[in-house]
Amino acid sequence: MPKGEIVMGALAPHPPHLVYAENPPQNEATSEGGWEELRWGYERLRETLSDKDYDVIIVHTPHWATFIGTHFLGVDKFKSLSVDPIFPNLFRYNYDLKVDVELSKAIHDNAADSGLLVKMMENPDFRIDYGTITSCHMVRPEWDKPIVSISSNRGLSYYSVEVMQEMMIELGKVTAQAIEASGKKCVLLASNSLSHRHFVTETNPPEDMSKEHITSHAMHLWDMRMIERSGKTQQILDEMPEFCEQAIAEADGGALTWMISAMGIPDKPAILHGYGTIIGTGNAIMEWPCYKWGDE
Ligand SMILES: [Fe+2]
Repeated sequence: MPKGEIVMGALAPHPPHLVYAENPPQNEATSEGGWEELRWGYERLRETLSDKDYDVIIVHTPHWATFIGTHFLGVDKFKSLSVDPIFPNLFRYNYDLKVDVELSKAIHDNAADSGLLVKMMENPDFRIDYGTITSCHMVRPEWDKPIVSISSNRGLSYYSVEVMQEMMIELGKVTAQAIEASGKKCVLLASNSLSHRHFVTETNPPEDMSKEHITSHAMHLWDMRMIERSGKTQQILDEMPEFCEQAIAEADGGALTWMISAMGIPDKPAILHGYGTIIGTGNAIMEWPCYKWGDE
Protein backbone atom coordinates (compact mmCIF):
# COMPACT_ATOMS: atom_id res chain seq x y z
CA MET A 1 0.00 0.00 0.00
CA PRO A 2 1.40 3.46 -0.88
CA LYS A 3 2.14 5.76 2.00
CA GLY A 4 -0.52 8.23 2.98
CA GLU A 5 0.21 11.91 2.70
CA ILE A 6 -0.89 15.38 3.66
CA VAL A 7 -1.88 17.15 0.44
CA MET A 8 -2.48 20.50 2.12
CA GLY A 9 -2.58 22.13 5.52
CA ALA A 10 -4.74 25.20 5.85
CA LEU A 11 -5.55 27.80 8.42
CA ALA A 12 -9.33 27.76 8.12
CA PRO A 13 -11.06 30.16 10.54
CA HIS A 14 -14.62 29.40 11.57
CA PRO A 15 -16.59 32.52 12.54
CA PRO A 16 -20.20 31.47 11.84
CA HIS A 17 -20.68 34.81 10.08
CA LEU A 18 -19.02 33.29 7.02
CA VAL A 19 -21.65 30.58 6.67
CA TYR A 20 -24.39 33.11 7.47
CA ALA A 21 -23.08 35.39 4.71
CA GLU A 22 -22.97 32.53 2.18
CA ASN A 23 -26.68 31.69 2.61
CA PRO A 24 -26.32 27.93 2.08
CA PRO A 25 -29.54 25.88 2.20
CA GLN A 26 -28.38 24.15 5.41
CA ASN A 27 -28.47 27.38 7.44
CA GLU A 28 -31.81 28.67 8.67
CA ALA A 29 -30.65 32.30 9.00
CA THR A 30 -30.39 34.44 5.87
CA SER A 31 -28.22 37.45 5.13
CA GLU A 32 -27.40 40.09 2.56
CA GLY A 33 -23.79 38.89 2.36
CA GLY A 34 -20.79 40.49 4.04
CA TRP A 35 -17.16 39.60 4.91
CA GLU A 36 -16.48 39.16 1.19
CA GLU A 37 -12.68 39.36 1.41
CA LEU A 38 -12.68 36.23 3.55
CA ARG A 39 -15.36 34.45 1.55
CA TRP A 40 -13.43 35.16 -1.65
CA GLY A 41 -10.36 33.83 0.15
CA TYR A 42 -12.18 30.57 0.84
CA GLU A 43 -13.28 30.54 -2.80
CA ARG A 44 -9.61 30.68 -3.85
CA LEU A 45 -8.73 27.92 -1.38
CA ARG A 46 -11.51 25.73 -2.81
CA GLU A 47 -10.23 26.44 -6.32
CA THR A 48 -6.74 25.24 -5.31
CA LEU A 49 -8.22 22.14 -3.74
CA SER A 50 -10.46 21.38 -6.72
CA ASP A 51 -7.64 19.77 -8.71
CA LYS A 52 -6.19 17.88 -5.77
CA ASP A 53 -7.00 14.29 -5.05
CA TYR A 54 -7.76 13.66 -1.37
CA ASP A 55 -9.76 11.22 0.72
CA VAL A 56 -10.45 12.92 4.02
CA ILE A 57 -10.46 16.27 5.83
CA ILE A 58 -8.95 16.32 9.32
CA VAL A 59 -9.96 19.32 11.41
CA HIS A 60 -8.82 20.41 14.87
CA THR A 61 -11.40 22.65 16.52
CA PRO A 62 -11.29 24.89 19.61
CA HIS A 63 -15.06 24.75 20.05
CA TRP A 64 -15.19 21.10 20.97
CA ALA A 65 -13.60 21.63 24.35
CA THR A 66 -12.71 18.46 26.23
CA PHE A 67 -10.85 19.22 29.42
CA ILE A 68 -9.93 15.60 30.06
CA GLY A 69 -7.85 14.55 27.09
CA THR A 70 -8.23 14.87 23.33
CA HIS A 71 -11.35 13.32 21.81
CA PHE A 72 -12.01 12.02 18.28
CA LEU A 73 -15.32 11.49 16.47
CA GLY A 74 -16.01 7.77 16.48
CA VAL A 75 -19.38 7.30 14.75
CA ASP A 76 -19.79 6.88 10.96
CA LYS A 77 -22.45 9.57 10.52
CA PHE A 78 -23.78 12.53 12.43
CA LYS A 79 -26.95 14.41 11.48
CA SER A 80 -28.58 17.15 13.51
CA LEU A 81 -28.95 20.90 13.96
CA SER A 82 -25.96 22.90 15.21
CA VAL A 83 -26.78 26.23 16.86
CA ASP A 84 -24.02 28.66 17.74
CA PRO A 85 -24.48 29.48 21.42
CA ILE A 86 -23.21 33.07 20.97
CA PHE A 87 -24.79 33.78 17.59
CA PRO A 88 -28.00 31.72 17.37
CA ASN A 89 -29.36 34.51 15.18
CA LEU A 90 -26.69 33.75 12.55
CA PHE A 91 -26.00 30.04 12.72
CA ARG A 92 -28.61 27.30 12.90
CA TYR A 93 -27.08 24.75 10.57
CA ASN A 94 -28.52 21.38 9.56
CA TYR A 95 -25.52 19.12 9.14
CA ASP A 96 -25.29 15.64 7.74
CA LEU A 97 -21.71 14.43 7.73
CA LYS A 98 -19.59 11.30 7.41
CA VAL A 99 -16.64 10.41 9.60
CA ASP A 100 -13.58 8.37 8.64
CA VAL A 101 -13.71 6.35 11.86
CA GLU A 102 -10.85 4.10 10.78
CA LEU A 103 -8.41 7.01 10.46
CA SER A 104 -9.86 8.72 13.52
CA LYS A 105 -9.23 5.58 15.58
CA ALA A 106 -5.74 5.17 14.09
CA ILE A 107 -4.75 8.68 15.23
CA HIS A 108 -6.39 8.02 18.61
CA ASP A 109 -4.46 4.76 19.04
CA ASN A 110 -1.14 6.32 18.04
CA ALA A 111 -1.75 9.16 20.48
CA ALA A 112 -2.59 6.72 23.28
CA ASP A 113 0.60 4.76 22.56
CA SER A 114 2.63 7.96 22.83
CA GLY A 115 1.19 8.69 26.28
CA LEU A 116 -1.44 11.30 25.41
CA LEU A 117 -4.80 11.08 27.15
CA VAL A 118 -7.40 10.37 24.45
CA LYS A 119 -10.95 9.12 23.96
CA MET A 120 -13.20 8.15 21.05
CA MET A 121 -16.57 9.99 21.00
CA GLU A 122 -19.03 7.18 20.34
CA ASN A 123 -22.31 8.85 21.30
CA PRO A 124 -24.41 8.92 18.08
CA ASP A 125 -26.40 11.90 19.41
CA PHE A 126 -23.31 14.00 19.99
CA ARG A 127 -23.77 17.58 18.72
CA ILE A 128 -20.97 18.59 16.33
CA ASP A 129 -19.45 21.98 17.18
CA TYR A 130 -19.78 24.97 14.86
CA GLY A 131 -16.00 25.27 14.46
CA THR A 132 -15.83 21.90 12.72
CA ILE A 133 -18.93 22.63 10.67
CA THR A 134 -17.97 26.14 9.54
CA SER A 135 -14.38 25.31 8.56
CA CYS A 136 -15.42 22.14 6.72
CA HIS A 137 -18.38 23.86 5.03
CA MET A 138 -16.23 26.73 3.77
CA VAL A 139 -13.55 24.34 2.47
CA ARG A 140 -15.85 21.67 1.02
CA PRO A 141 -19.52 22.74 0.99
CA GLU A 142 -20.46 19.57 -0.91
CA TRP A 143 -19.78 17.50 2.26
CA ASP A 144 -18.78 14.60 0.02
CA LYS A 145 -15.54 13.82 1.86
CA PRO A 146 -15.47 12.11 5.25
CA ILE A 147 -13.95 14.08 8.08
CA VAL A 148 -11.97 13.43 11.22
CA SER A 149 -12.65 16.00 13.93
CA ILE A 150 -10.25 16.40 16.84
CA SER A 151 -11.23 18.21 20.02
CA SER A 152 -9.24 20.79 21.91
CA ASN A 153 -8.18 19.56 25.33
CA ARG A 154 -7.76 23.22 26.36
CA GLY A 155 -4.29 22.48 27.68
CA LEU A 156 -3.56 26.19 27.88
CA SER A 157 -6.51 26.86 30.17
CA TYR A 158 -5.99 23.78 32.29
CA TYR A 159 -2.18 23.92 32.50
CA SER A 160 -0.18 26.50 30.49
CA VAL A 161 0.63 27.48 26.94
CA GLU A 162 3.88 25.47 27.17
CA VAL A 163 2.02 22.29 28.14
CA MET A 164 -0.56 22.93 25.42
CA GLN A 165 2.20 23.21 22.83
CA GLU A 166 4.03 20.14 24.04
CA MET A 167 0.87 18.04 23.78
CA MET A 168 -0.19 19.47 20.41
CA ILE A 169 3.28 18.97 18.91
CA GLU A 170 3.10 15.32 19.97
CA LEU A 171 -0.45 15.03 18.66
CA GLY A 172 0.72 16.47 15.33
CA LYS A 173 3.51 13.91 15.06
CA VAL A 174 1.25 10.95 15.79
CA THR A 175 -1.36 12.33 13.38
CA ALA A 176 1.26 12.39 10.61
CA GLN A 177 2.33 8.84 11.44
CA ALA A 178 -1.26 7.60 11.33
CA ILE A 179 -1.85 9.31 7.99
CA GLU A 180 1.31 7.81 6.53
CA ALA A 181 0.34 4.31 7.66
CA SER A 182 -3.27 4.72 6.44
CA GLY A 183 -2.33 5.18 2.78
CA LYS A 184 -4.83 8.05 2.62
CA LYS A 185 -4.47 11.53 1.18
CA CYS A 186 -5.51 14.12 3.75
CA VAL A 187 -6.27 17.82 4.05
CA LEU A 188 -5.54 19.28 7.48
CA LEU A 189 -7.50 22.25 8.81
CA ALA A 190 -6.53 24.38 11.79
CA SER A 191 -9.89 25.89 12.63
CA ASN A 192 -9.03 29.16 14.31
CA SER A 193 -8.85 32.93 13.98
CA LEU A 194 -5.59 34.78 14.68
CA SER A 195 -6.15 37.74 17.06
CA HIS A 196 -9.39 37.15 18.87
CA ARG A 197 -10.39 40.27 20.76
CA HIS A 198 -13.92 40.88 19.56
CA PHE A 199 -16.64 43.48 19.87
CA VAL A 200 -19.26 42.89 22.56
CA THR A 201 -22.18 44.39 20.67
CA GLU A 202 -23.58 43.44 17.29
CA THR A 203 -24.45 45.88 14.53
CA ASN A 204 -27.80 45.91 12.78
CA PRO A 205 -27.68 44.17 10.40
CA PRO A 206 -24.71 42.02 11.50
CA GLU A 207 -23.38 42.14 7.93
CA ASP A 208 -23.04 45.95 7.92
CA MET A 209 -19.49 46.11 6.60
CA SER A 210 -19.20 49.85 7.30
CA LYS A 211 -18.82 48.85 10.98
CA GLU A 212 -16.30 46.03 10.54
CA HIS A 213 -12.68 46.61 11.49
CA ILE A 214 -9.93 45.20 13.70
CA THR A 215 -10.45 45.93 17.40
CA SER A 216 -7.06 47.60 17.85
CA HIS A 217 -3.82 48.48 16.10
CA ALA A 218 -1.96 46.03 18.36
CA MET A 219 -4.19 43.16 17.18
CA HIS A 220 -3.54 44.12 13.56
CA LEU A 221 0.21 44.09 14.15
CA TRP A 222 0.04 40.63 15.72
CA ASP A 223 -1.98 39.29 12.77
CA MET A 224 0.49 40.69 10.25
CA ARG A 225 3.42 39.34 12.24
CA MET A 226 1.97 35.83 12.22
CA ILE A 227 1.14 35.96 8.50
CA GLU A 228 4.70 37.11 7.75
CA ARG A 229 6.02 34.16 9.78
CA SER A 230 4.29 31.59 7.55
CA GLY A 231 7.64 30.39 6.16
CA LYS A 232 9.15 30.25 9.65
CA THR A 233 6.71 28.08 11.49
CA GLN A 234 9.21 27.20 14.22
CA GLN A 235 9.14 30.90 15.05
CA ILE A 236 5.34 30.79 15.22
CA LEU A 237 5.65 27.98 17.76
CA ASP A 238 8.31 29.90 19.68
CA GLU A 239 6.18 33.05 19.80
CA MET A 240 2.93 31.26 20.58
CA PRO A 241 3.02 32.15 24.32
CA GLU A 242 3.18 35.89 23.63
CA PHE A 243 0.70 35.62 20.75
CA CYS A 244 -1.87 33.80 22.88
CA GLU A 245 -1.48 36.19 25.77
CA GLN A 246 -1.28 39.51 23.97
CA ALA A 247 -3.61 38.86 21.03
CA ILE A 248 -6.07 36.62 22.92
CA ALA A 249 -5.32 34.37 19.95
CA GLU A 250 -7.70 31.55 19.12
CA ALA A 251 -4.62 29.44 18.42
CA ASP A 252 -4.82 28.95 22.21
CA GLY A 253 -6.91 25.84 21.48
CA GLY A 254 -3.89 24.15 19.92
CA ALA A 255 -5.12 23.76 16.33
CA LEU A 256 -2.34 25.73 14.67
CA THR A 257 0.41 24.08 16.74
CA TRP A 258 -1.02 20.64 15.92
CA MET A 259 -1.12 21.36 12.19
CA ILE A 260 2.36 22.89 12.03
CA SER A 261 3.73 19.85 13.84
CA ALA A 262 1.85 17.35 11.65
CA MET A 263 3.31 19.05 8.56
CA GLY A 264 6.85 18.75 9.87
CA ILE A 265 7.21 22.45 10.85
CA PRO A 266 7.16 23.89 7.30
CA ASP A 267 9.81 26.40 6.31
CA LYS A 268 8.20 27.43 3.01
CA PRO A 269 5.83 30.40 3.03
CA ALA A 270 2.12 29.71 2.97
CA ILE A 271 -0.17 31.08 0.27
CA LEU A 272 -2.38 33.75 1.80
CA HIS A 273 -5.83 33.41 0.21
CA GLY A 274 -7.49 36.10 2.29
CA TYR A 275 -7.38 38.22 5.42
CA GLY A 276 -10.23 40.05 7.09
CA THR A 277 -11.86 40.89 10.39
CA ILE A 278 -15.07 39.48 11.81
CA ILE A 279 -16.60 41.30 14.77
CA GLY A 280 -13.12 42.73 15.21
CA THR A 281 -11.18 39.43 15.24
CA GLY A 282 -8.35 38.81 12.76
CA ASN A 283 -8.79 35.96 10.31
CA ALA A 284 -6.42 34.61 7.67
CA ILE A 285 -7.07 31.84 5.18
CA MET A 286 -3.69 30.32 4.41
CA GLU A 287 -2.51 27.24 2.60
CA TRP A 288 0.81 25.60 3.37
CA PRO A 289 2.50 23.80 0.48
CA CYS A 290 1.87 20.14 0.10
CA TYR A 291 4.17 18.04 2.26
CA LYS A 292 5.31 14.56 1.34
CA TRP A 293 7.45 12.35 3.47
CA GLY A 294 10.93 12.16 2.04
CA ASP A 295 10.73 15.60 0.36
CA GLU A 296 13.45 18.10 1.13
FE1 LIG B 1 -14.16 30.50 17.49
